[in-house]
Formats: sequence, structure tokens, C-alpha cells
Amino acid sequence: MSSGEAILGIETSCDETAAAVVVDGTRVASSVVSSQVDLHARFGGVVPELASRAHVELINPVVAEALLEAGCSGPDVAAVAATVGPGLVGALLVGVSAAKAFALAWGVPFVGVNHLEAHLYAAFLEEPDLAPPLVLLLVSGGHTLLVAMDDHLRYRLLGSTIDDAAGEAFDKVARLLGLPYPGGPAIDRLALEGDRTAIAFPRAMHDDGYDFSFSGVKTSVLTYLRKHPDANVADVAASFQEAVVDVLVTKARRAARDVGANGLCLAGGVAANSALRERVLDACIADGLRPFVPSRTMCTDNAAMVAATAWYRLRADGPTSMAAGADPALRFPGV
Ligand code: KG4
Ligand code: ZN
Repeated sequence: MSSGEAILGIETSCDETAAAVVVDGTRVASSVVSSQVDLHARFGGVVPELASRAHVELINPVVAEALLEAGCSGPDVAAVAATVGPGLVGALLVGVSAAKAFALAWGVPFVGVNHLEAHLYAAFLEEPDLAPPLVLLLVSGGHTLLVAMDDHLRYRLLGSTIDDAAGEAFDKVARLLGLPYPGGPAIDRLALEGDRTAIAFPRAMHDDGYDFSFSGVKTSVLTYLRKHPDANVADVAASFQEAVVDVLVTKARRAARDVGANGLCLAGGVAANSALRERVLDACIADGLRPFVPSRTMCTDNAAMVAATAWYRLRADGPTSMAAGADPALRFPGV
């Protein structure tokens, strides 16, 4: 185990059981992610009760593996952190209870971490010299947020979705196209073979404000498929993806210009999408912004981002009370 302050992070907010050791908020000593995708695939989505039970079974072996890979034993860590929300309450409780138990046993602080802020700190993990002011585009299965980051841990909400989250739209459209769960990666792959200009799906709220709406484009795909039962599904996937990416990138660029940001940061599971990554990078070059686009494995749920966030939060706020619980509806901090 190298010198520095090691934090053990735990993530169980949805269907990944993950543990990681991160040193000084930036060096990933280990990151173990055990996905439950196969468990939920046959139901076409995450079944909360099954997720909780699987977390209970997996949490100890996943933590043990993360510590082993990092070459440290429990009492070597300076703190134990866990995602406290947002997410599935039963799933969150498994990680929170485990983290508190380890913290008590090893006599170190417990740090409760906001999952949304953790997605942002995934970008800091890979580029520690990230310099605010920044605009963050956070796109996951449950959230679509545009946030101005004025400084470390200081945020202003610019916009969010008024209906479906971007990832939710990907998952629902994938289902309409008969693709397997999780839908986002399946659409991403299929879209590579399609023509993104084939069908002009609507771009809701393209020109006004910073809020998003994705339920209209989903309905348009459904209507299109009903009218064209022999449609080329790769073209539908590529055109749908294009409509979503177009709105996301247009608004993020406008926000970056309006707030005078130095950079644009992409985060959350949908940030693993090839078209979105490419378009954000192109936009940053065109607008003279520094891009912060985490590697794909860092975009989807993992515990390294939880441990990294905890390092900053521990310095700013101190340990979290052992009496604090999980909050399934937790909002982005300070917004
Ligand atoms: O952040 P995340 O792993 O979990 C949540 O906190 O929600 O995000 C999961 C979401 C799912 O909706 C999934 O379909 C989507 O991210 N996703 C993608 C891709 N990879 C994951 N969406 C589009 N393209 C991808 N390559
Ligand atoms: Zn997430």
C-alpha cells in the first residue's frame, strides 16, 4: 500500500455492487464492480428487491477484493464512504450499513456521499487539475442535469428534465426496438450501423432554456415504428440517438457560454455513449472549452468516484453522523 490517505468507497445505489480504494482523492488503488445485469436482464429492468438481496450477498466479497487489490487491510484506510442517495432505498441501505459497520470496527470516520456529485468527481479522478468555473452535463438512468460548478463543492442548477431522464429514454426506446437491457449500450452499438439523418425525430425544447424533455421523442419513435413496421432498426436507433445528443450538446454549449465556463464536464452512465462523447469533444474544440470526459468505465456506476468525492467532502464537511440514513430522493448538493 503506497503512502497517502486511502479511502474505501462503497456503491450500491442501483444494480452494481462496487468497492474501491482511492488514495488522496485521485489515485485509484483498486476498483471492483460486480454488475447484476444478468440477474435483471430477463425482467427488462432492475427489480429492486432482487438488487437488495444481491448486494447483501456480494458486498463482503467485493470489499475484500478491493482491499486485497489495493494491498491494504481495513484499519489502514482513513475513512469508509458509501453512496447515501439518490437510488433504490433497499439497495442503498446495504452499502450504507456495511460502510458504517466497517468504519466502527476500524475506528475511522464514515462519509456519506451523494451519487450525483460522485459522477462529477469521476472526472476529477482522471484529471485532478480540473479548474472551475465549469458546466456539468450529468446524464444517467435517473437524472439529466445541467449544473454550473463555480468552485469545488459549489454548484448552481441550470436545468433538468421535466419528464424522462436521458438514460431512461435510451432504455425505453431500446425496449421498443426489441433490444436487450440495459438499452443504452445496445442502442449505442446498433446506431453505429445506422444513418443518423434517416429520420428527423423531434428535438423538444431545443431553443429555449436549460430544461430538457425526452418523453416526446420516445413517443415519436413508437409512432414511427407503428407506421413503419419494416423500418430499419439501426436507422431508428441512430436517428433517435442523434436527436437526444443534439439537444444535450446544444444546451450544454449554450450554458457554458452563458456562465463563462472554462470547461465542459460530461458525467453519468449516458456519458459512455460514443456519439455524445464525440460531439462534446467537437463542441469543446469549436468553443475553446476544456473537455472533461471520463473514461467509459468511470462514467457508469463505480465506487472509485464515491471514494474520490468522500476525500473532498471529508475536508469540507468532516465525517457524516452515524445516525444519518439513506435518502432515495437526494438532490444534487446545494441546488
Ligand atoms: O449512471 P448510471 O450507471 O446509473 C444511474 O445512476 O442511473 O447510468 C445508467 C444509464 C442507463 O440508462 C444506461 O442505459 C445508460 O446509462 N447508458 C448508456 C450507455 N451506457 C450506459 N446510454 C447510452 N449509451 C451508452 N453507451
Ligand atoms: Zn449513476
